[in-house]
Amino acid sequence: MRRVLAGVLATSVVAGLVTMAAHASPQTAADEPVVVVSSTFDDGTAQGWTSRASEVVAPSTAVARGGAHSLAVTGRTANWQGPSLSLLDKVQKGIRYDLSVWVRLAAGEAATQARLSVERRTAGTPSYESVVGNTNVTADGWVNLKGTYTLAADVDFFTTYVEMNSATAALHIDDFTLSYTPLPPIQTDIPSVKDVLADHFKVGAAVEVPQILNNHGQLLAKHFNSITIGNALKWDATEPTEGTFRFTDADTIVAWAKANGTAVRGHTLLWHQQTPAWVFKDAAGNDMTATPENKALLLARLEAHIRAVVGHYGDDIPVWDVVNEVIDEAQSDGMRRSKWFEITGLDYLRTAFRVAREVAPNAQLVINDYNTNVPSKRDKLYDLVVRLRAEGVPIDAVGHQMHVNVQWPSLAETEAMLAKFVPLGVDQQITEMDVSIYTDSSQSYPTPPREVLLTQAHRYRDFFELYKRYSDDISSVTLWGLADDGTWLDSFPVTRKDHPLLFDTRLQAKDAYWGVVDPSQIGGPTTTTTTTTTTTTTTTTTTAPPSNCTVAYTTVGQWQGGFQGEVRITNRGTTAITPWTVGWSFADGQRITQLWGGVHTQDGAAVNVRNASWNGTIAPGGSVAFGFLGSWTGANTKPTAFTLNGVACQTPTGSGRS
Ligand code: XIL
Repeated sequence: MRRVLAGVLATSVVAGLVTMAAHASPQTAADEPVVVVSSTFDDGTAQGWTSRASEVVAPSTAVARGGAHSLAVTGRTANWQGPSLSLLDKVQKGIRYDLSVWVRLAAGEAATQARLSVERRTAGTPSYESVVGNTNVTADGWVNLKGTYTLAADVDFFTTYVEMNSATAALHIDDFTLSYTPLPPIQTDIPSVKDVLADHFKVGAAVEVPQILNNHGQLLAKHFNSITIGNALKWDATEPTEGTFRFTDADTIVAWAKANGTAVRGHTLLWHQQTPAWVFKDAAGNDMTATPENKALLLARLEAHIRAVVGHYGDDIPVWDVVNEVIDEAQSDGMRRSKWFEITGLDYLRTAFRVAREVAPNAQLVINDYNTNVPSKRDKLYDLVVRLRAEGVPIDAVGHQMHVNVQWPSLAETEAMLAKFVPLGVDQQITEMDVSIYTDSSQSYPTPPREVLLTQAHRYRDFFELYKRYSDDISSVTLWGLADDGTWLDSFPVTRKDHPLLFDTRLQAKDAYWGVVDPSQIGGPTTTTTTTTTTTTTTTTTTAPPSNCTVAYTTVGQWQGGFQGEVRITNRGTTAITPWTVGWSFADGQRITQLWGGVHTQDGAAVNVRNASWNGTIAPGGSVAFGFLGSWTGANTKPTAFTLNGVACQTPTGSGRS
C-alpha cells in the first residue's frame, strides 16, 4: 500500500514516521514507500511548480499522462530553464528519497535530452546536483526520469527541476512524486565487526556525509572503528580553485569521528583523477608542458595544497593516503604517465611525502594503489617503495585497495601480495576493499542470486582469515563503503546494481557479514539449510518410487532471449551425499551462459553440474542450490527428469516459483 501525504501536513507526518521507523519493527513502518509529494496537476493548478527564470509554467490539457492535465513549460531561453518545485519543507537530511517525473516535449519539438536536477543553497551559496542524467525525450510519448537523492547538508533553499539540452524546446511534465521507504532499524543484537577483529586490526568504511546520519550513522558507529573520507578530501573537493579551500563536508565527518571515537584516514593528497584542471595550467593558462618553469610551478602548487589540507586537520587525521595509483606496470619504469610524472618525474612523490611529513610529523604516510595482487604491478610498487625509502622519502605504509570480486584474485596471489612487503618492515593496510558480485562488465543481475552472495560470503571469510594471519603487518582493513545502498560499483566500470559490501541496501547484515564475523552462520543461523524452496509439497508424491533426493528446478526470471534459473537439490536420505553431480537435458536448445554455486558442462542438450569447492556435502535433510543464466529461443520448457550422481532423482510437485 502506498500512503500519500500532501502539503504542509506531509512535513510533520513524515518527520513522525521517520522517528518511528528508527524504533519500530521492520514489519510496521519500514519497507513501505511513503509518498511525500505528488503532483498530477489534475486540479487544474500548477501545484506549487514555478519557472526558474522568465519561462512560463502553466497547467495544460494539450497532453496528460493520466487524468486531464499536465504542466506545460514554454518560452524557455536557456538549457537550465524548466519547471521547478521547492522541496525545502518536504525533505529531511540523511533520508534517501526517490524522485520520479514524466517528461514529454510539446508537439512539433525536435527530440532532445532532459535531466532531473536539484539546486540547494547553504547561506546563499548554490550547489547543483544531478538526480537523473541526460535522457532522450521526444514529443511522441512520456519518458520517466527516476532517481534517488539524499540531502546531506543544512540548506536554506532546495528545489528540484527539469532542464534540457535544448535551450528553447517547450515541454510538459506530469505525475511527479517524491517518496521514501523507511529503513528498518539496524540490528543491534549482532556482534560488532570492530569488536570481533579488535585483536587484529582496525576495521573501516569509506563514507560521505549521508553515512554518518540517522540509521547509517548508527550502523557505522556500531561496526567500524575507522573511516576513510571517500571523496571530500580529494583535490577537486578541497581546492577547486587555486588558494580557495573548502572543508565543509570533511569537517562534518571528522567532527562525527571525534565524537564517536572513530579513527580517520585521509584520502587522498595526490591522484591523477578528481584533480581540477587549473593545477596543470601554466602561468599563461595553457596546458603545462614539461619545462623547468612548469615543474617548479606544479611542485609549488602541490606543496601549498598539502600544507593547507594536512595543516587544516593536524592530529585529527593521523593517516594519509599521500599518493594514489601512481604505478603502471605496463611501463618499463613502472610509473603511470600522469601529468604529475610527465612534468616532474619522480619529484612529485618526493615533494608530497616530504611536505606531508613536515606538516604532520606524527601521521602515518601511505602509498596507495589498486591491483597490487597482480605480480607485475606488485613488484613495480615494491621497487618504487624500496628506491624512495632508500633516498629517505618517508613512506610508512603500503595501501592495497583490494577492489576484488567473487572469483578474482586467488587467495594465493593475495597472500603473495602481503608477503612481498613484509621484509621491508612497512605497515600494510587494506584500504578500499569490496567484493563485486560480477566477474566481467557484461553481467547484470536483476536481483543478486543467493548462490553468488554465498560465494561472496566465503570470499570475505577467506580474505579476512588471510588478513588475520598477517595482522602483525596490517594495521587496518577498510571497506569502500558502508552498505550496498551506497557503492561506487553501481556506476563503475558500468552502470548496474552491485552488492559488494557486508550490509545490504536496507542496512541489514548479509552472509558476507557472517563470513567476517562468524563463518559458521553463513547461509543462516543453522548450518544445514533444511527445507526452503523445495517445500513440503514433495510429500504428496507418496506413490513415487523411493529415492534419496529431490531436485527442484525454478525459472527465477525470464526475458527476451534470456532467463535466470535455480536448481535446488535436497538430500531425502539418512546419509550425507558428497560430492554431487546433477544432470538433466534441455528440451528447447537452452544454453547455460553462466553458473554460480557449481561447475557446469553442457554437451548439446545434456547438462551436468558438479559441486563447487565449498558446497560439496549435502547433509541428510539438507539442501544446496546453484543458479545460472541461460539463453533460450522458441519455448523455455523446464526440464523434469534429473539424475544425482548418475541415479534418477525425483522432482517435487508444485515446487519452484514459476
Ligand atoms: C571513487 C569514489 O568512491 C566515487 O564516489 C568517485 O566518483 C570516484 O572515486 N580508487 C580510489 C577511490 O582510490 O578514490 C575511488 O573512489 C575508487 C577507486
